[in-house]
Amino acid sequence: MKKIRVGVIRGGRSGEHEVSLRSAESILNAMDREKYDVVPITISHEGRWEPFTISADPSTTHAVDVVFPIVHGTYGEDGTIQGLFELANLPYVGAGVLGSAIGMDKDVMKRLLRAASLPIVEYWSVRKSELDSFLQSQLNSLPYPLFVKPANLGSSVGITKTHAPEELPGALQTAAEYDQKIVVERGVDAREIEVSVLGNDDPIASVPGEIIPSREFYDYDAKYVDDNSRLLVPAPLSDAAVQEAQQLAVAAFKALECSGMARVDLFLERPNGKFYVNEINTLPGFTSISMYPKLWDASGIPYPQLIDRLITLAIERHSEKSKLRTRY
Ligand SMILES: Nc1ncnc2c1ncn2[C@@H]1O[C@H](COP(=O)(O)OP(=O)(O)O)[C@@H](O)[C@H]1O
Ligand SMILES: [Mg+2]
Repeated sequence: MKKIRVGVIRGGRSGEHEVSLRSAESILNAMDREKYDVVPITISHEGRWEPFTISADPSTTHAVDVVFPIVHGTYGEDGTIQGLFELANLPYVGAGVLGSAIGMDKDVMKRLLRAASLPIVEYWSVRKSELDSFLQSQLNSLPYPLFVKPANLGSSVGITKTHAPEELPGALQTAAEYDQKIVVERGVDAREIEVSVLGNDDPIASVPGEIIPSREFYDYDAKYVDDNSRLLVPAPLSDAAVQEAQQLAVAAFKALECSGMARVDLFLERPNGKFYVNEINTLPGFTSISMYPKLWDASGIPYPQLIDRLITLAIERHSEKSKLRTRY
């Protein structure tokens, strides 16, 4: 049988360049060389592609049959690189252009979750140009603590937990350094539960896991620096809570137009046991010890098999789309 040529794209022009290299390393090591010809492609910090770039022209002969982009953050999980693969007419792993873009914008994501009647934490979306009027009208009426976040970022960059009104202007300023749009959210006292989702039209949910952050919240240092945050797999939850978490994760995946894979992050409010959807990650960390693959491993899909499933899903989605009429 002819081997499938898989381009594993790694690195990229975001702060998560190094994280991406680590995920890609795990993927490259685990891929079955009997089935796949593996072609690593690295995007530098400056955006240069090595050893070659993928042409947007679908009539050129591509050096790969399918792409596994493992590039986090801006230009990697926001729909831009996915747009290139669409132009090139190449199958690729993970969410498409729309799902990727939605997952990157916390405000649009929440609006769609709300439209699907899924539970989200109360929030306000503020554009940079509206900061002053927002502060004037809302400063003293908001429910503290608040989380103030750039709308389009990840890895907790630019996020401040704000305990009192006098801290809010500074927190808004910080977030505004990273984005034109800022999300201000009621802080919940919650456990952080994560569920992995896999599939296209008929997605399935893994057993839930839990993050125990090493710091006041799961900030950048708790994620990447101090190494003391703990992942519990599976999360200690009642059967009913497991079911609810899985249903919410699948419903969020569908409402947010995802395909292939995503990790859905939930809050479980401590005082009342209520779940909220916090966010979706369309390109979750993918080292063999990252939450997304660990949850599948605990659900009966080991890492190499997970990679096979994702590549198959990419090819299936591409062939379904190819059957659509493009002329009339
Ligand atoms: N509304 C909130 N209530 C409590 N904790 C929050 C809230 N929003 C964010 N956090 C904390 O901040 C972390 C990062 O926020 P999140 O919205 O997931 O952004 P990112 O996309 O950067 O991961 C969460 O994992 C959680 O620890
Ligand atoms: Mg998060």
